[in-house]
Amino acid sequence: MSLSITETLGLVVAVFLLIYYYSVSKFEFWQKRGVKGPKPIPFFGNFKDVFLGRGCVHNCFEKVYYDYKDEPVIGLYAGYNPLLVLRDPDLIKNVLIKDFPKFADRTLPPHREVEPLSEHLFRLEAERWRPLRARLSSVFASGKLKEMFHLLLECSEHFGQYLEGMVAKGKPIECREISAKFTTDVIGSCAFGIEMNALASEDSEFRKMGRKIFQTSWRTMIKDRLRDYPFLFKLIGRFFVDMDIVAFFTRITKESIDYRIEHNVRRHDFVDSLVDLKQNPDKAHLPEMDDLFLTAQAFVFFIAGFETSSLTISHFLYELAVNPSIQEKVREEIKTVLQKTNGVVTYDSIREMKYLDACFQETLRKYPVLVWISRTALVDHTFPGTKISIPKGQQVFIPVYAIQMDPEIYPNPQVFDPERFTDNNAKSRHPMFFLPFGDGPRNCIGARFGKNQSKMAVITVLSKFKVEVCDKTFKKYDMDKKVLFFLQPTHGIHVKMTKLTE
Ligand code: HEM
Repeated sequence: MSLSITETLGLVVAVFLLIYYYSVSKFEFWQKRGVKGPKPIPFFGNFKDVFLGRGCVHNCFEKVYYDYKDEPVIGLYAGYNPLLVLRDPDLIKNVLIKDFPKFADRTLPPHREVEPLSEHLFRLEAERWRPLRARLSSVFASGKLKEMFHLLLECSEHFGQYLEGMVAKGKPIECREISAKFTTDVIGSCAFGIEMNALASEDSEFRKMGRKIFQTSWRTMIKDRLRDYPFLFKLIGRFFVDMDIVAFFTRITKESIDYRIEHNVRRHDFVDSLVDLKQNPDKAHLPEMDDLFLTAQAFVFFIAGFETSSLTISHFLYELAVNPSIQEKVREEIKTVLQKTNGVVTYDSIREMKYLDACFQETLRKYPVLVWISRTALVDHTFPGTKISIPKGQQVFIPVYAIQMDPEIYPNPQVFDPERFTDNNAKSRHPMFFLPFGDGPRNCIGARFGKNQSKMAVITVLSKFKVEVCDKTFKKYDMDKKVLFFLQPTHGIHVKMTKLTE
């Protein structure tokens, strides 16, 4: 049976109307709850620019953050899906800390069938996340970090030597690549017990994979947009997943775990925790513990471990190049503190460097690597002190970048001013106005590790080199619009380094 042209047209119109009505079917959701927000448009909701590749999610959050200054929350629609942006710091605290058990999920649930490595700590739903987080937290306890400090020191020595070679060539240095090589080696050595050799070898497999994971393209963008339509995502999402990355991490993790079990090797690091999980899944109260699940944990520690810190190191070095007097003050502090230990950096000496810490915090204030964070309500919830109610399953978003660049909270937000983080100044602000590592029980598990490795990189650079801007240094920071929640420039971060004479 074949359809006539009129019948075919009729069918197309009917399908179009059906999709149209579906796409606008929830558009009164926020109005009914008394929540203000911009008017959505059919198919796109409030995210037309994101769907068309002209803006990123964060741009939308930033716009409404300023447009609805007097509102505690703002209601938006991603496609047809209602989502809530939190503006009031007390409501943010309510979600992240006080009522955390009601908001223990993030907003990107794992889909093993579509993305084989997605069942990791960052994306797991509360039930499997809770026992896993408890087991993996010990890897980042301060005692453990102290124990593995010598590995970080060793990597920083290699980093210093590598930089000597690069600087001798007299060319501008691209901070993102050198920092990523350093942090790849650190995470390899400290978490996996593997020498990844990203600094020593141009062809390091781990560095290649790291580059691949964070490369943005139309393919990665379409994959992220598809997530707003779970049905479509489940159907075709798998075609946008890079299976080389899955195969690589599955092989490496399996080899590392098998080797440790076979040769009875213990290094008290992250891989040991994976071995424990494999051998005692019941202790972690986790129903399934197959190789793919373990690989997913290794995968998230690798990606979260190197890229967040390497971007932070790059932003830090850039700001020091632009602000020579701040650079000099940090260098002086490093020199003074290290005099006590004959120039050797120790775990405690880093903690003594207060001005370095203020600069590190100001770097993460101006460049929070995760520009927004999110949670999903596990039950119906009414925000305390308000009449705003949300149903179970509602996604809520915290616009970290917009908050940290708000001139009413941080005057002249474009100015790099570490004084904002001296003790008294920091205490005068609401704690929810500074969230580079998130907060509450689901905050960044690797925050201390990330701080240590980032600071160590900066100490290594400043102890040996002067950092300056050069012709290749970018004039205007161009945020990559293809990424979902990462603050990543589309360009390199170039500086000039010269050896200090002394
Ligand atoms: C400067 C460095 C880093 C920054 C800025 C950063 C930032 C963040 C942020 C904002 C979150 C979300 C927190 C929330 O939702 O409340 C997060 C989560 C996470 N981070 Fe980091 N991170 C850094 C370094 C690291 C390192 C070094 C590791 C591991 C080696 C790591 C592993 C993770 C993991 C596994 C999660 C998910 C935690 C969970 O859901 O329980 N991060 N990070």
